[in-house]
Amino acid sequence: MISRGRFITLEGIDGAGKSTQASFIAEKLRARGIDPLVTREPGGTPLGEQLRELILHQPMSARAETLLLFAARTQHVDAVIAPALASGRWVLCDRFTDASFAYQGGGRGVRATDIETLANWVHADLWPDITLLFDLAPEVAAQRLAKSRPADRFETEQLAFFARVRTAYLARAQAEPARFVVFDGSVAPERLQRQLEKHIESWLSK
Ligand code: TYD
Repeated sequence: MISRGRFITLEGIDGAGKSTQASFIAEKLRARGIDPLVTREPGGTPLGEQLRELILHQPMSARAETLLLFAARTQHVDAVIAPALASGRWVLCDRFTDASFAYQGGGRGVRATDIETLANWVHADLWPDITLLFDLAPEVAAQRLAKSRPADRFETEQLAFFARVRTAYLARAQAEPARFVVFDGSVAPERLQRQLEKHIESWLSK
């Protein structure tokens, strides 16, 4: 029997640097003979990418936003993530349901119990094995974002919003220490990558 692939997710507030690290991790895994499926949320399927455009740019209520994120996630889980894992492939996903707890729950005030209900419906038996949380003060993240591309509906939020998102992420990490690894996103990228490399080695030795 083929054993299920590992499911690894990356999380953090906008500007915390996780997308750069996703490419780094994929490269390191490939060098060790593991070709991970690299994907992202919202997105990862044709439907998900169309929903992503709406979610990032179309004004909407917090509940509509939550439901659209879960609609995109459902398609992603059903068509991409679950089949890949079942075939033994590792999946590296830039954001997953922890982002809904942090952004929609912490940031927008959607009840955690409602998000839990959706998560249980969409992927009750499929949770990440490892979640890498890149933690960064919103003030520092905002400075980084100011230098990059035009902002979307999330990136234009106030510092207080990101402070709530960060708090919600850290609370999830604290509640599930066996799944989460928290990194200090303020350190130099090379140092962060050395820390990541140690973790990658430990996944491979298990
Ligand atoms: P991301 O792809 O990380 O942004 P970028 O490409 O700009 O680095 O995520 C897009 C945005 O979607 C991000 O601001 C967070 C938001 N988001 C949620 O609010 N809830 C969710 O469940 C997910 C997956 C993303």
